[in-house]
Amino acid sequence: MAPRPYLGRASIAMTINTTIGGGVATLEIARPQKKNALTLAMYEAMTEAIATAMADDAVRALLIVGQPGIFTSGNDLEDFMQRPPSGEDSPVFRFMLSLAACDKPVVAAVTGAAVGIGTTMLLHCDLVYVSEDAQLSMPFVGLGLVPEFGSSLLLPHLMGHAKAAEKLLLGDPLTAADAADCGIASRVLPAGEVVAHARRMAERFNSLPPGAVRDTKRLMRSGSKEGILRAIRAEAAVFAERLHSPEAKEAFAAFFAKRRPDFSKF
Ligand code: COA
Repeated sequence: MAPRPYLGRASIAMTINTTIGGGVATLEIARPQKKNALTLAMYEAMTEAIATAMADDAVRALLIVGQPGIFTSGNDLEDFMQRPPSGEDSPVFRFMLSLAACDKPVVAAVTGAAVGIGTTMLLHCDLVYVSEDAQLSMPFVGLGLVPEFGSSLLLPHLMGHAKAAEKLLLGDPLTAADAADCGIASRVLPAGEVVAHARRMAERFNSLPPGAVRDTKRLMRSGSKEGILRAIRAEAAVFAERLHSPEAKEAFAAFFAKRRPDFSKF
């Protein structure tokens, strides 16, 4: 049976395409002209898509995909300036909490860059397939910001403090090999094979007992759940303050002016 759209035409305008087919709910980030930067409307569409998929017994797994050569450039920086997230009701918060709470397996297919929340969300997925040229980065410090949604806890836990410091303090990207070595990525594949492979893995859940899958995922996450929620709240408080900082304002202005930021005056 051909995949069917499941959030209707409005979701297409919001640039998240959603389809259900073969037991898999697919969320496709589709805003290539802005390198798949995520707007408030896109977070809202993804949150709704996750809720719909969780409630549909025919869906055994979720698949998140970007566009060829770009997973996502992270939060839309214009949104950050115009409509900064204002707490746990904000669209980005609701999206990340619903992703972290999703009781069905979430599979991600990453080609090209996954910036900021693009990498952070992978830490909350279950199976992550990346292309050989994938670059995962969390350049929060360079934007005058701090890590978000548990990444200040999860990244040092996965790779050790000293390696995580290169990624979080200096903002160096993780290559596909780095991501596989530390266990963020399940496997590295040639770019042209990533989405098809990820979909095949997602479809494998059709032949597995959903209750055992759900319980196993819950058990795998339960040991770290409370600590992650605490970290998410602590990070969110600092992040919200930093969004209004002169350092962040300089970084965002520099990005849109296509110049290097100047932090020498701080
Ligand atoms: N928010 C808003 N707009 C963004 C964006 C973002 N996160 N990322 C890219 N864009 C826009 C650019 O402003 C540009 O718009 P324009 O064509 O109107 O000038 C367009 O998308 C293409 O981006 P560009 O930077 O020219 O593409 P590139 O291939 O040279 O670089 C990236 C791609 C992803 C490396 C680069 O766009 C980038 O670093 N983006 C910002 C990443 C970021 O800091 N995210 C926030 C993390 S918290």
